[in-house]
Amino acid sequence: MEFLTIALSKGRILGETMELFKKIEMHLDNVSEESRKLIFEFEDYGMRLILSKPLDVPIFVEHGVADLGVAGKDVLLEESKDVFELLDLNLARCRMVVAVPEDRAPGIPIYRVATKYPRIAESFFLKKAQPVEIIKLNGSVELGPLLGLSDAIVDIVATGHTLKENRLKIEDEICPISARLIANQVSFRLKSSRIQELLSRIRAII
Ligand code: PRP
Repeated sequence: MEFLTIALSKGRILGETMELFKKIEMHLDNVSEESRKLIFEFEDYGMRLILSKPLDVPIFVEHGVADLGVAGKDVLLEESKDVFELLDLNLARCRMVVAVPEDRAPGIPIYRVATKYPRIAESFFLKKAQPVEIIKLNGSVELGPLLGLSDAIVDIVATGHTLKENRLKIEDEICPISARLIANQVSFRLKSSRIQELLSRIRAII
């Protein structure tokens, strides 16, 4: 049987994704980023799993080296790749927000924004007709306001612990975020029966 290849995001989505497979009775054991192995094959299920950085999942799917992928909506909005978004898996739920220092008085304009998500930030402030300078960082964006690099950040918030630890507060909500199942457009047609079968098994449990 030809493999159905699925690209999975390393990091916080991975554990929840593997739980989902367990719930649909697919026992894909030993898939963990600790092993440092990047490709896992399961002959019994005709499935191959790839572990990649979250931002790379849509790239592998768009190019067809993965038929399917599990990617956060944050990554899909930021990267806007040519892939089909099949299903909201309702996993790794969080929110995209604008946050500012706790002691910042309300109503003071924001001039500089630090973020890992420059496109999302740009489109949000553009819609508000609020011109801002966007500074792209690659992580720990909370450092932006703490060091005086920016007035605000655009980032994801899950538990809110990181904001609290760094004395930041939410100023604006941009959108809710969760993990999505995405498909390569050609695979979606060529492997449609296998993809549909997987989809209906997942739909049955979410
Ligand atoms: C994400 C995000 C926040 C944090 C929010 O960072 O950028 O920093 O999680 O989660 P919380 O609300 O539960 O505290 P991640 O752990 O992906 O690392 P990074 O900051 O290096 O990008």
